[in-house]
Amino acid sequence: GRLVELLKRAPKAELHLHIEGTLEPEMMLALARRHGVALPYADVEAVRAAYAFTSLQSFLDLYYAGAGVLRDAQDFHDLAWAYFQRAAADGVVHAECFVDPQTHTARGIPMAVLFEGLVAAQRRAQTELGLSVQWILCVLRHLSEDEGLAMLEAALPYREHFIGLGLDSSERDHPPRQFVRVFERARALGLHVVAHAGEEGPPDYIWQALDLLQVQRIDHGVQALHDPALMQRLARERVPLTVCPLSNVKLCVYPDLTRHPLGRLLDAGLCVSVHSDDPAYFGGYVGDNLVQTVAALGLSARQAWRLLANGFEAAFIDEPTRARYL
Ligand code: ADE
Ligand code: ZN
Repeated sequence: GRLVELLKRAPKAELHLHIEGTLEPEMMLALARRHGVALPYADVEAVRAAYAFTSLQSFLDLYYAGAGVLRDAQDFHDLAWAYFQRAAADGVVHAECFVDPQTHTARGIPMAVLFEGLVAAQRRAQTELGLSVQWILCVLRHLSEDEGLAMLEAALPYREHFIGLGLDSSERDHPPRQFVRVFERARALGLHVVAHAGEEGPPDYIWQALDLLQVQRIDHGVQALHDPALMQRLARERVPLTVCPLSNVKLCVYPDLTRHPLGRLLDAGLCVSVHSDDPAYFGGYVGDNLVQTVAALGLSARQAWRLLANGFEAAFIDEPTRARYL
């Protein structure tokens, strides 16, 4: 109906998007062919058939394997540029995108190659699409803190090209407290700081992200619902949660969208907004996430508008820019 059309066209801030998670099967196969990389899939249907995940880890195994087709600056440019064109068509006007440098440097891809491709696409997005893009580097939490610190130091020659540090990958058994020093270093460098917490992991990981890493936003955070004291704190301090409903269903955090707690988080006064995480793997970009979740939960137009406004409230943009969107 009319609300769906309005939501599709509405200006959006995308704040939880892994650029490696925008690798569509067509591009994965094309890059594999270009570079002579062997993939265990014969065609696009075989790739899509493999996307039957049972947990975060079952997804990450495929996601890191898929990223192996990204080799040169052109690949990183093509990946990001394809995403930016889709995002602009989806109403995204501002995107804060995650990239996982360690996934690539571990395969021998220099940091310089990564930034060359990504920054070229970012410039094109601004000039050709009017889309503002900012990069947030994520520390892989299944690796050691020292490896995260080394990643951050190796990225410092490109400091002008990123605005923040994040924490992602396997959440279970990799608590935020293991990364205190790298987040301290990031804050001392004037970077924004965010962390994935409470996706599958316990509410305690959200407390740790706030108190020990001193993050400004929580990525996912849906497990906060099981901790009333935490809910009160998140509401009182308006700590943003970047929620990704289709991701949560694909990774079996909830059985289907009608069981997603987005409406309850909103009703509790939290600054929740809707994003897409790894849209090529989870079956929908930000518009799909919004439209499908609003429909499944029967959210009102006012609630839908709140979700969009919260995205701009949570964005790392200057106040005049924020005022234009709120
Ligand atoms: N890396 C890419 N997507 C992720 C997710 N949903 N959780 C943790 N790490 C990720
Ligand atoms: Zn994520």
